[in-house]
Amino acid sequence: MAVPEKAAGRVASVMQEDRVFPPSAEFSKGARIGSLADYKKIYDEAASDIEGFWHSRAQDLPWMKPYSKVLDWQPPVAKWFVDGHTNASAACLDQHIAAGKGDKIAMVWVGEPTGERREFTYRQLHAEVCRFAAGLEKLGVKPGEVVSIYMPMTPELVIAMLACARIGAVHSVIFGGFSSEAIADRNQDAKAVAVITSDGGWRRGAQLPLKKNVDDALKSKAHPATTVKHVIVLKRTGQAVDMVPGRDLWWHDVVAGMPADHPPAAMDSEAPLFILYTSGSTGKPKGIKHTTAGYILWAKTTSEWVFDLREEDLFWCTADCGWITGHSYVTYGPLAAGASILIYEGAPNAPHEGRFWEIIEQEKPTIFYTAPTAIRSFMKWGMQHIEGRDLSSLRLLGTVGEGINPEAWVWYHEVIGGKRCPIVDTWWQTETGGIMMSPLPGCTPTKPGSCTLPLPGVCPEIVDAAGDAVEQGEGGWLVMTKPWPGMLRGIWGDDERFQETYWSRVPGKYLAGDNARQDKDGYYWIMGRIDDVLNVAGHRLSTIEIESALVSHPDVAEAAAVGRPHDVKGEAVAVFVTLKSGEPNDALKDALRKHVRQQIGALAVPDDIHFSATLPKTRSGKIMRRLLRDIAAGRETVGDTTTIEDYTVLAKLRDDE
Ligand code: WTA
Repeated sequence: MAVPEKAAGRVASVMQEDRVFPPSAEFSKGARIGSLADYKKIYDEAASDIEGFWHSRAQDLPWMKPYSKVLDWQPPVAKWFVDGHTNASAACLDQHIAAGKGDKIAMVWVGEPTGERREFTYRQLHAEVCRFAAGLEKLGVKPGEVVSIYMPMTPELVIAMLACARIGAVHSVIFGGFSSEAIADRNQDAKAVAVITSDGGWRRGAQLPLKKNVDDALKSKAHPATTVKHVIVLKRTGQAVDMVPGRDLWWHDVVAGMPADHPPAAMDSEAPLFILYTSGSTGKPKGIKHTTAGYILWAKTTSEWVFDLREEDLFWCTADCGWITGHSYVTYGPLAAGASILIYEGAPNAPHEGRFWEIIEQEKPTIFYTAPTAIRSFMKWGMQHIEGRDLSSLRLLGTVGEGINPEAWVWYHEVIGGKRCPIVDTWWQTETGGIMMSPLPGCTPTKPGSCTLPLPGVCPEIVDAAGDAVEQGEGGWLVMTKPWPGMLRGIWGDDERFQETYWSRVPGKYLAGDNARQDKDGYYWIMGRIDDVLNVAGHRLSTIEIESALVSHPDVAEAAAVGRPHDVKGEAVAVFVTLKSGEPNDALKDALRKHVRQQIGALAVPDDIHFSATLPKTRSGKIMRRLLRDIAAGRETVGDTTTIEDYTVLAKLRDDE
């Protein structure tokens, strides 16, 4: 298979296969995996005896009932640690207290209005989780029932997740930037029995109407969620909210009088721990399902390997818990590993563009994990925000969520890392539960722009459309040939879509949905999606979701959404719209942007809106996305366009630009 068109440009501009940064000797000394030879040994051990490998690692989990079998693999159904019982909140809390670490700091929180700060030891976090868990149980929330969480990045968001895990309820965290329609859709799909929210949240000094969004969601006609019985509201900003009697309760009333110790429920290894909605190549977000034992083991083990967590580390992952990174590397991974986490509620540029560096100077995190989009913003904001800041506490840097261009990598390494901190460029997905490919600090030589090598237990392959492995150096689809403990177990309520999306195009192998290429050293280079999923500022968006939102506007007849390169966000959203009424003017553009914001959320609002008389389609009626991508990017049209039905469309589109 030829290198995909979308990726081809990147290969030329990004790949610098021969630019190698050696691993840091300082890391090699104490690291769990301390040399490339060690890595290869462990990698081979895991690949040749997958069950034995994970059996020995699973001994660290708090088992309430031992499992009878490590893996039952009937593709695509994997059962890990069959019949065992454990609890994810016990792995994150009780276990450490029992080991004498109750007084260690588990979490430091910095709030958005400058100056707000709270700390929790493991014992204190445990007590808060127990109280809220007991409160949820008293309300009648049962194991296996879904609880939606729509909250700002406050300690209570982490507490709510762990409390659900403690009683066996399945949390579904909805990012606070999503709209009421998006909440309604997720509540309905998951059959949520409760929603945990707050009166509001702070964002750059303004108050977000979170409770109001939940209220509107529960009134949605398009997605009535008749299952929601309770709405629990944390008082955060103090703004006025409507409380519906019999349905709405304040968080402080739910925990009042609850015990500081509430036993964790013994959950089956394969009991769902959470679902997290993510965009796919259809309009409907899919609820990715993760289960208990395999997920927690994967989150913990990958945290230890990739971030080399040590007793004295303070780990700052800047992701919001609304995304998978906030599940695996804010909450479950580092806490299961017994580390201390730092979380921050606000934006990186409020009240000023040096806010992150100020926090690093004050809180002294040792590990910093963020998205390339953020790094490109820091570069743009300028050195004046960084010069003079003491960033010497940092010893390791990471990136996640999208590819990093070498310029940003080198800047991150030199300016933020002072040339002493290794960088781990981690490739993974909501579906994989945790990091799959990444350098290991202390052993993997790094190359800017490559996520380097698979972790032990990860067996990638690059295949062509027939499912055959490509020659080394050629591009193709990235698949996984063996199951791993953190893998998704399904799409909530849609087994067919699970099978079809991930397991049928290359039968028996997990199709990641990314293109990739391996270089001469076996390093992996991710080259973009194979489907119409966009990655805007590290956030996954479906083009069809944006198109559906647009055509639900009364003036819109047809819409096509594509990505175009953007120097900070990686990709920006460009849409092409045909109208059935209204005037193609700026006022309508504003109205359409507002409409998308209401339907999905601010993160999906199109950057460019092009009005057009018709959309270019092939004879079989498919929208010619490649052509639109070229037009959106302002590139010369390439490739064969002889199948365009109406050349005037192309001319018209160009006129509109
Ligand atoms: C992309 C985020 C290049 C990729 C953890 C993947 C990356 C999608 C990288 C998953 C990386 C993530 N290099 N691309 N290091 N990490 N991606 O589910 O296209 O929000 O399929 O998970 O982000 O996005 P998701």
